[in-house]
Amino acid sequence: MEVQPIRIGLLGYGNVGKALVKLIAAQREAISSRTGLDLTIQAVAVRNPEKYPQLETMTQRITTNAHDLVISDDIDVVVEVIGGVDPAKGLVEAALSSGKPVVTANKELLAKHGPELFGSADEMNLDLFFEAAVAGGIPLMRVLRESLKGEPIRRVMGIVNGTTNYVLSQMTETGMSYGDALAEAQSKGFAESDPTADVEGQDAASKAALIAMVAFGAQLGLSDVTCQGITEITSKDIQFAKRSGHTIKLLAIAEHDHGEIGVRVHPAMLPNHHPLASVRDSFNAVFVEGEAVGDLMLYGRGAGGDPTASAVLGDIIAAANNLTQGTNNGLGNLRKISIQSTEELENAFYINLEVADEPGVLASVASVFGKYGVSIRSMEQEGLGGEARIVFITHSSKERNVHSTLDELRELDSVIQIGTKIRLVGA
Ligand SMILES: NC(=O)c1ccc[n+]([C@@H]2O[C@H](COP(=O)([O-])OP(=O)(O)OC[C@H]3O[C@@H](n4cnc5c(N)ncnc54)[C@H](OP(=O)(O)O)[C@@H]3O)[C@@H](O)[C@H]2O)c1
Repeated sequence: MEVQPIRIGLLGYGNVGKALVKLIAAQREAISSRTGLDLTIQAVAVRNPEKYPQLETMTQRITTNAHDLVISDDIDVVVEVIGGVDPAKGLVEAALSSGKPVVTANKELLAKHGPELFGSADEMNLDLFFEAAVAGGIPLMRVLRESLKGEPIRRVMGIVNGTTNYVLSQMTETGMSYGDALAEAQSKGFAESDPTADVEGQDAASKAALIAMVAFGAQLGLSDVTCQGITEITSKDIQFAKRSGHTIKLLAIAEHDHGEIGVRVHPAMLPNHHPLASVRDSFNAVFVEGEAVGDLMLYGRGAGGDPTASAVLGDIIAAANNLTQGTNNGLGNLRKISIQSTEELENAFYINLEVADEPGVLASVASVFGKYGVSIRSMEQEGLGGEARIVFITHSSKERNVHSTLDELRELDSVIQIGTKIRLVGA
């Protein structure tokens, strides 16, 4: 087989960039004999080259000028692992305009500007691959784009953020508080020093937007994803979930229903028998429901240099193969599909209220549920006096009605506080 040299221009040499360079060095011969592609790291762009003295032995050229690198004639494929929108967006655009396919791990960039960038790639007959941007090492994008291309997918539901899964797993398994579990995640390197994007659900929301684009060919942006994180989950919620045979997980959900799509991120109580309930620690998993194929689940490491580099490398090989054959594999025309209003969704809810310990409270609370047609499946009272807490599980109800119920309950003198509201999913 004739060997085809493929010169990679690498933008960024952080966690993912470093792991990629190491993986390519280890696999270069095997890849060459399997695919006929000889991969080399031709040039690397970073901001501070002095931070990376070891880089000199790994590449021909180190530069601080990422723009020059992406338009340079001696680069065949550009790999963007800088992160963020600026300057990554301009660099991806410049690479595509100068005829180079791009591989990126950047969920934030694609969730915000995906349709526009995919359009530019298609116009140029070039690939813009992003396997590593969703669920790190799990080959989800390729499965959705290729294996399930003809499948009518109803719903994709995933645990796509390792930090929050680690925190919720620790709270469930050791009884730790949210704050202690988050501090432990930070000390073990599973959470950033500023964990806001993870715990408030924005990281998962970017991934949910990308899943919806690929699974449903939908043209949408991050603002179409409704998002609730895990910061309000308490040990009491976790204990209730355990007692009632559930596990609380942060889910990213993209679903197609009656010509509309719904895309959202929120904590959910899953019955323990659901396959996603057993995904512990910082692992990720994605559950796909298709009309023909039925239920599928993919499980693995959603982050970390090595798993992410593995996904990036798979994309580089696919893009290089297409480049040598003069073809590309785009997402096709992303269509504007009507976005379902969350208020119209129907779900069963876990709702807990802190109430005054006085006669008639239960009757007045129950009458508000009744007024908005939210029927109560079960009710449990915990504690006495100032500690009194009532936990309700509702039957499936429109979110709009549940919100109206909570708004009115907030006005009652006997309701001291409304606690966490968690949807029951997968029953
Ligand atoms: N880490 C993971 O587990 C993981 C998993 C999935 C996806 N991702 C995605 O992969 C991307 C990279 O993540 P990471 O963890 O590897 O990031 P990182 O460790 O922060 O590394 C970023 C690298 O980009 C370089 N860089 C930043 N701005 C630059 C610029 N303007 N010009 C040239 N180089 C620049 C930095 O160089 P200096 O150090 O010199 O500033 C650094 O080498 C992000 O989009 C992230 O969301 C990461």
